Parts: sequence; C-alpha cells; structure tokens
Amino acid sequence: MDQINVLFTEEEIRKRVKEIANSLYERYHDEEVVFVCTLKGAVFFACDLLKEYKGDARFEFLRVSSYEGESSTGRISLKLPLKAENIYNQHVVIVEDIVDTGYTLDYIRKYISDMHPKSIVECTLLDKKSRRVVSIEPTYSGFVVDDLFVIGYGLDYNQKYRNLPYIGVVVKE
Ligand code: IMP
Repeated sequence: MDQINVLFTEEEIRKRVKEIANSLYERYHDEEVVFVCTLKGAVFFACDLLKEYKGDARFEFLRVSSYEGESSTGRISLKLPLKAENIYNQHVVIVEDIVDTGYTLDYIRKYISDMHPKSIVECTLLDKKSRRVVSIEPTYSGFVVDDLFVIGYGLDYNQKYRNLPYIGVVVKE
C-alpha cells in the first residue's frame, strides 16, 4: 500500500459529523427530511450523518459522474436518477463528499430543484474552496481542504482507498 499522510483522523471526522447532524436537527426539528446521498463518495459520510441525526429522516441515492483520474471534466452525467415523487414537497439535504470546482453540486442542485422540493440545503464533508469555478457555497461543510487530491472515508482515486476510515493524501514518490 502507498504511504498516506493523514489529514483528518476517524475521531476528528466523528466529532465533526455529530456537530453537523446536530445543526441539521436544529434546523428541521420534527419535520421530515430527505437526505440525498451522492454515490459513491458520500456513502460513509451520509451513513454516519444519518446515524447521528435525531429527527425523522429518509434516505435516497443519486449517482452522477464527472471525474476522470484526478480532474473534473465539467461534463456531468447522471448514472442513477432520483424518483421525483420522493423529492416533491420534501425538505432535501444533498449530502456530498467533496466540493471542488462546484460543477457537480451545481448540477445536482438544479436537478433536484426541478422536482419542486419544499427546501434544499447542501451538506459536504470537504470543501476545496480555492478550486471553485462555479459560484456555489454549501450550506454545511465539514472541513475546508487545500488544493490536494484527498482519499479515504468514501473518497477514491480510481476506485481505490475508499475503505480507509480516515481522510488522507497519497504521498507520491
Ligand atoms: P466538482 O464537480 O469539481 O466539484 O467535483 C466534485 C466531485 O469530484 C466529488 O463529488 C468527488 O467525487 C470528486 N472529487 C473532487 N475532488 C476530489 C478529491 O480530492 N478526491 C476524491 N474525489 C474528488
């Protein structure tokens, strides 16, 4: 296995996820919320977030793709759609792993808006703010990261490293 520098430990991630879940609960209280997890990267984050969330929650999954290797192509394609009846008139939380250029989140936001939810917020574990091309600011963000290609806790590099329980950077020789 390659050498990996840890950026966020399991403990740091767990603490931050709990804080976000509590902030979301303060927002919705007893109103039902639909968490839309973007596959595959956000799956660990979304599962942990839902386990910490104290209110009524439903879980939906969406898959889009834009990445090849280490760069976003900006051309988003929908691989697994949502059912409009699961979104219509619901409070929606989009759960993303990382916002980089912003193309993906912008696409997902517009796609969900067209299904007429009651409200939408975006929740990302990681935010690479300095790389933004599209002007979009996630409502909730776990950690801001520098312009580094990060892996682990669901995030992959060519489908590898998703199963690491922490977030890190591969040290290149
Ligand atoms: P964007 O469209 O450029 O904002 O890219 C967002 C998507 O690219 C994320 O949902 C990830 O799947 C992927 N991505 C962006 N940066 C990284 C990274 O550092 N590691 C792994 N995946 C990334």
